Amino acid sequence: MALSFRVGRGILSTLSPPIPQAHEWANAYKATPARPLLNMSQGVPGIPPPPELQRALGAAAASQESFGYTVPEGDLSMRNALAAEMKHIYGNSCDVTSSDIALTTGCNLAFVASIMALTDAGDEVILPVPWYFNHQMTLSMLGLETVCLRTYPEDGFQPSIERCEKLITPKTRAIALVTPNNPTGSIYSAELLAQFVKLATDKGVALIIDETYRDFITSGEPPHALFASDAWRRTVVHCYSFSKAYCIPGHRLGAIVAAPEFLTHVKTVLDTVQICPPRVVQLALGPLLPSLRDFVAETARAVEHRHVLFRNALPPSWRLGAQGGYYAFVRHPFKHVAAFDVCKRLATEMGVVTLPSAFFCEQKVGGEVKEVTVEEEDKWIRFSVANINDEKVQKVCERLKESETALGWELEG
Ligand SMILES: Cc1ncc(COP(=O)(O)O)c(C=O)c1O
Repeated sequence: MALSFRVGRGILSTLSPPIPQAHEWANAYKATPARPLLNMSQGVPGIPPPPELQRALGAAAASQESFGYTVPEGDLSMRNALAAEMKHIYGNSCDVTSSDIALTTGCNLAFVASIMALTDAGDEVILPVPWYFNHQMTLSMLGLETVCLRTYPEDGFQPSIERCEKLITPKTRAIALVTPNNPTGSIYSAELLAQFVKLATDKGVALIIDETYRDFITSGEPPHALFASDAWRRTVVHCYSFSKAYCIPGHRLGAIVAAPEFLTHVKTVLDTVQICPPRVVQLALGPLLPSLRDFVAETARAVEHRHVLFRNALPPSWRLGAQGGYYAFVRHPFKHVAAFDVCKRLATEMGVVTLPSAFFCEQKVGGEVKEVTVEEEDKWIRFSVANINDEKVQKVCERLKESETALGWELEG
């Protein structure tokens, strides 16, 4: 049906969501009991939330308290609970209180609200590439310029401070990092993050750090020490998701942690776009947060174990670039073939669903085999190890080995 009105230029210039493309490929695969579909495309928890959380969600949904609106920044009790949890994660010196926290309808909205409060159309935001596609889509929809800070396999996909500094202009409003990274899995060190804070502070731009996957760091060390002094409030905007660690992506709860002076403006955005964050999940999860620490740690260990299995079972010609959080980023071995084409055939013919690097950078999708012109950044594939079990991880690696002959493409030397 031809519309009688036009849609906005922002939305027209925004990439299409890539996950439906992966679903389309998955649907085209003819699964059999002996050859089931193995889906490593989406970053979703592979297990349900623990029974006590499920019960609490049910009870909260039926409680009188849950029916009404609340304040845009979320319930004080849930914000206090998150502040206490942050002390557990970042150490006792973590200087974050409930007044530094606004709860959001998922972490994606935490990013959107932060960006809306920070920028005007035409401003620039620096994103390491490959990027988390919804971050770039947010910028594009809002008429902002995405400035690409390319990251490289030889650096473990860590962003370079020096390269970032060169990209800063009078129009730059923020640098937005994701650690552990989506899609590469790269985990940025505490030192690197401290250097980014210094750079951003010196240049007078915000440093957004999306730590959706921070609970999956199993080193036993805090992810960073930025919250240990109150200086973080000058520069850092931290975004967090409850979707992954607590296995409740459908309940839509996230958070922004930032200076109260910035949150004042964020709350104006939140009042407009969410009115208040979902009530049921706040009522259910807040009181349980401390008792769910073992569940979160156990889930993180299980994901880590799967990363080890994946690393050990990956055929030698498939090169692992980085691993962490939910993801492994792998270079495929086929000569002159773009990862988009590899992912398409892996999914539709071999039943292994993954996402190509083209979905995480400026898109050149739809290209068939591009003779010799396939660039290095087109060769990478994201595997999500979270939404699959240990046995299936082994099977995926067996099918990757098979694909080396089954797909009929020449292998690199
Ligand atoms: C880096 C990153 N941020 C945010 C999100 C979305 O989180 P939420 O479900 O809380 O909106 C995701 C989901 O995959 C993600 O990978």
